[in-house]
Amino acid sequence: MTVNLCGIELAHPVINGSGTFDVIAARRVFGAAVDEQFPFSAFVSKTITIEPRRGNPPPRLFETAAGLINSIGLPNRGLAEYLREELPQLATLPVPLITNVMGSNADEVGVLFEALEDRGEIAAIELNVSCPNVKTGLDIGSDPAELSTLLAAVREKTTKPLIVKLTPNSANVALVAAAAEAAGADAVSLINTLRAFAADPARPGEAWLGGGTGGQSGPAIRAVALAQTVAVAQAIDLPIVAMGGIATAANGRQFLDAGALAIAVGTESFRDPAAAGRIGAALT
Ligand SMILES: Cc1cc2nc3c(=O)[nH]c(=O)nc-3n(C[C@H](O)[C@H](O)[C@H](O)COP(=O)(O)O)c2cc1C
Repeated sequence: MTVNLCGIELAHPVINGSGTFDVIAARRVFGAAVDEQFPFSAFVSKTITIEPRRGNPPPRLFETAAGLINSIGLPNRGLAEYLREELPQLATLPVPLITNVMGSNADEVGVLFEALEDRGEIAAIELNVSCPNVKTGLDIGSDPAELSTLLAAVREKTTKPLIVKLTPNSANVALVAAAAEAAGADAVSLINTLRAFAADPARPGEAWLGGGTGGQSGPAIRAVALAQTVAVAQAIDLPIVAMGGIATAANGRQFLDAGALAIAVGTESFRDPAAAGRIGAALT
């Protein structure tokens, strides 16, 4: 079951959720076996920002009955280090590379797009819009008008396929997806994590996570992700990469039946790093 995602040929429909599989660390530990049994048909990098980010203070992960709440805070070594250190390593993966980026305004996103434009190693860009606009305070991806304005300003700065990663934390994800389509996105991916709070059992009323609030992922969000996938598939004609709690081939099949072209596995890879391979094989 091969898939053509915006002109990129994928051997099967299963890719990774950004930030949930550290392939560089995995190669360090497991060596060539990682590439030989690579579970994903494309690899999505964690989110890259222009400047390095330390991320949130620990603790950063809280396990719930059906998944994780994370407040990782998008730590990364910044654009320059990504290009110098990580991209050459990711470029040798046996599958196409999708680089995920985030900026808090059009200027920042434009800089990121332009810096990646000539890098032939990168097959597509995924734009993470779960980010507050520094001027308005609104999450760019939670408001159709915010997203339209951003994409209108940056779309022409890249000729690469542009996948807009939607946030589930909006009043109407279908309207946001339609805005992305109208402003020139080539595909959308969804869902990112749902805003969540982990209470500290030892300190009533206090947050357990160092970052305060966090984002829920895993099986707990699967039904929400499916509902949003159905709504978006009905609203737009673009290819959809769906994710949110996918842990089995049967789960993945539901998202494909709902209108997704491809699916991504995230939290399940923490439990079983080979999960995506198992799901991809069953769907092929
Ligand atoms: C630990 C962790 C780190 C994540 N980091 C990123 C990230 O850097 N960029 C991004 O767009 N999404 C990030 N996500 C969201 C996932 O890519 C995915 O959208 C979400 O977890 C839902 O899928 P899942 O339930 O299969 O994990 C992260 C999720 C987790 C659990």
